[in-house]
Amino acid sequence: MTHATEAATETVHLLPQTRHLRALHTGMRDRDADRAVFVRNAGRIHRRLVEAGLELLPFEPYDVQTPVGRTYRGVRLTSQVCGVCIARAGDSMETALTEAAPSARIGKILIQRDPVTKLPRLYYAKLPDDVAQRHVLLLDPMLATGGTALAAIDILLDRGVPEAHIVLVNVLSAPEGIAAVRKRFARVRIVTSSIEERLNENAYMLPGIGDFGDRYFGTDPVR
Ligand code: URA
Repeated sequence: MTHATEAATETVHLLPQTRHLRALHTGMRDRDADRAVFVRNAGRIHRRLVEAGLELLPFEPYDVQTPVGRTYRGVRLTSQVCGVCIARAGDSMETALTEAAPSARIGKILIQRDPVTKLPRLYYAKLPDDVAQRHVLLLDPMLATGGTALAAIDILLDRGVPEAHIVLVNVLSAPEGIAAVRKRFARVRIVTSSIEERLNENAYMLPGIGDFGDRYFGTDPVR
């Protein structure tokens, strides 16, 4: 991990746990937070996560001339980027990516747990034809059991994306989900803003945030 925590690994990149980041989390995790606060804070965290994800991709030297006649020895991303949103919660992260990387293509995957088999089932996938030539930021705010992430990574690999070109971007990650991804796909990098304590018996993260999609899109039951 790029920042020290107990679950330190090479593949997990935890955002620096600054007081500002913790304040954003505090606003979102508060069960009494109204939706506007939740959405605003989520957007600010998404921007940090996406920037950290892009930082893991390869860059190449790229010089430009400044208006005062000097050369700035800059860099630019070497390869094209594709953001893949795991619907529905991952859709909330799309804007952060297109703001940071306007040329990024956006794919969508909808996977839901089959009520009978309890296994993740693919309902929809639309990816750019050239996805195999791109680096992919796989966007889902919640990495809980890892079942959905594993199914989504399988789809990307089927379409020819190399494992090492996939960065999974999450707001909250459970140790169980991280372990599941690392066990099957050791070369997939994970960027997260928090590693939670564990999952509860209903596969919600603790201390957690509740149902991200419901809180973000305002479909949570009225208390
Ligand atoms: N999905 C969520 O929205 N929240 C969790 O805690 C786990 C999965």
